Amino acid sequence: MAGAATLPEQVKSQIATPLLRWYHARKRSLPWREQPEPYAVWVAEIMAQQTRLETMLPYYRRWMQQFPSVAALAAAREQQVLNAWEGLGYYSRARNLHRAARQLVAEGGGRMPRTAAELRNLPGIGAYTAGAIASLAFGEDVPAVDGNAVRVLSRLFDVDTPVHTAAGQQRLWALAAEHLPTGRAAEYNQALMDLGATICSPRPKCNECPLQVHCLARAHGTQLLRPVKRPAAELPERGYAAGVLWQAGRVLVLQRPPRGLLAGMWEFPNVELQEGAAKAQLVRGLRSQLGVRVKPGKALGEFEHTYSHFQAHLRVYDCGMLSEAITPARPHKWLTLRGLARLPMGKLDRSVADRLQERHAS
Ligand code: ADE
Ligand code: SF4
Repeated sequence: MAGAATLPEQVKSQIATPLLRWYHARKRSLPWREQPEPYAVWVAEIMAQQTRLETMLPYYRRWMQQFPSVAALAAAREQQVLNAWEGLGYYSRARNLHRAARQLVAEGGGRMPRTAAELRNLPGIGAYTAGAIASLAFGEDVPAVDGNAVRVLSRLFDVDTPVHTAAGQQRLWALAAEHLPTGRAAEYNQALMDLGATICSPRPKCNECPLQVHCLARAHGTQLLRPVKRPAAELPERGYAAGVLWQAGRVLVLQRPPRGLLAGMWEFPNVELQEGAAKAQLVRGLRSQLGVRVKPGKALGEFEHTYSHFQAHLRVYDCGMLSEAITPARPHKWLTLRGLARLPMGKLDRSVADRLQERHAS
């Protein structure tokens, strides 16, 4: 993956020296940087994927209190783990962390492998995460190229290969490896990420950049054309209708299946909409799912969320129940509004639960 580091140290240092000098003057203070303990780095690097650092930091702090070690995480129940992750999205990241922790405990007392190559065998650990853990926590001289580093490297070397292709990835990782200064991978990898996050941002501030005299994109005026990306696909839209069913001051929630999107999390009973009237489809859907006749009333609201591969639009109705007994095929609970707070839910259903809370508080 990393490729041979072929450049002599003097050539490498043309980039690395100003980059590391800048890093030590400007680096952001992050909790896992001062004491790069392997488990802490692992959690942080998984959480930081697809999530901004400012967003993930409070989650990170809570997680480390709740699950301070591989052993503590392995001992936790899945619902606790999903609860702690709720709001970060992409829940397979949490499930994989949990699975990997259990695997490490089962195999050898929770000790983490020390090299990128071995780390990659764990669920949820790809090239970036393996490189980040091995370099930050164990001092291995391997690159770790995330989205921010891709932006820096593709500009610095004016790479015109599309970055999502295998050839593009190979080229960027090879460039990162070639310029990696021996023994300093942790600083170098994080310097590239910090530079991409703060200066070599989508609208780069080249006149503040410590690498400006080396930058080929700047010399060619192509900064804004790098990295070369594939055009963003239009996401398909899916409509849903959900019902809020009440019984003795409690509302009904169902558990999602153990596989697939938001696996094992809780939701209000719902149907995916086709063409036509939403309420009628909700009535039919809940009858077949729950064996119950409902009468949708007032719309509680409309909610939107973008998942990785589709855009969801949800309409929610308060429902009266015209028959009492329900016969759901999936696990279900009748909960008070307060009880809803303790179950792991996806973004949309949590927004619905919050809306119910607000309505009852006022
Ligand atoms: N983003 C994710 N992990 C990071 C790290 N270790 N340094 C800078 N940015 C990051
Ligand atoms: Fe990025 Fe500009 Fe620095 Fe080049 S000079 S690395 S484009 S900030």
